[in-house]
Amino acid sequence: MSSIGRLLLLLCLSIFLSHCLGDGPLGNFCDSNTTVAENSSISANINHFLSDVVQEVKKGHFFAAGYGSGESRIYGLAQCRGDVSLHNCSVCINDAASQILQACPGQDDAGIWYDECFLRYDNNNFFGEVDTADNIEYANVNNVKNPSYFKKSLQALFARIDSDAIKPKNRGFGRAEMKLSSSLTLYGLEQCTGDLSQVACSQCLSSAHEVFQGFCKDKEGCRVLYGSCYVRYEIYNFFF
Ligand SMILES: *[C@@H]1O[C@H](CO)[C@@H](O)[C@H](O)[C@H]1NC(C)=O
Ligand SMILES: *[C@@H]1O[C@H](CO)[C@@H](O)[C@H](O)[C@H]1NC(C)=O
Ligand SMILES: *[C@@H]1O[C@H](CO)[C@@H](O)[C@H](O)[C@H]1NC(C)=O
Repeated sequence: MSSIGRLLLLLCLSIFLSHCLGDGPLGNFCDSNTTVAENSSISANINHFLSDVVQEVKKGHFFAAGYGSGESRIYGLAQCRGDVSLHNCSVCINDAASQILQACPGQDDAGIWYDECFLRYDNNNFFGEVDTADNIEYANVNNVKNPSYFKKSLQALFARIDSDAIKPKNRGFGRAEMKLSSSLTLYGLEQCTGDLSQVACSQCLSSAHEVFQGFCKDKEGCRVLYGSCYVRYEIYNFFF
């Protein structure tokens, strides 16, 4: 999926990628080799999850549940970014639930990313497992002026955010900002899906941090969307 993220970057030469990309889905994955018949019990379980989830996210930012039994069992998960209001969360998941069937028709392993939410279902139980294989990455096109200072600041900021994110009361969510100069502030945010243990969450976050010095090296902004966590930094305020 990272190739899709990179392609979008080329098509979208804007400083503020979030504005350029709008509110639509950022990407999706359909990993299944099998085609699910419309009237099969797997399909019924997927539909059951999709109709439940839009109700459940009105009550909280995270929902995960299994539907059906045996070989047709479906595991579904939905999560909104921790700083998004419950109302906006439910708008986002509503959209995700209808878009995913169009993006991945007849698939029993599918996921869809928005900037504000993520939704996934699979015929195999993926709860608690770190998924960094399904991913999209975005880099701001602009380079930072002082790479070594920026890199150090980024590490210091995310060390702080990491320690917040893995505290049980924060349920995998953390964000912070750091002043780099009188006119420059760095904003960072990260979140693991609510099914992950602290150890699994740390693992996902540290994989995402590697992208900072890889695909996003010396860039003014970076966004990593994995199946199990979301990590982003910018030099403008993108928090809600
Ligand atoms: C799909 O099939 C290919 C070839 O048989 C296999 O390598 C791959 O792991 C399968 N993918 C999934 C998601 O099962
Ligand atoms: C699903 O529908 C097709 C076409 O209407 C039919 O041939 C098939 O037997 C149905 N399968 C099930 C599991 O109901
Ligand atoms: C909710 O969505 C509205 C409209 O897109 C936006 O202006 C607002 O900042 C969002 N608020 C939160 C907390 O998500």
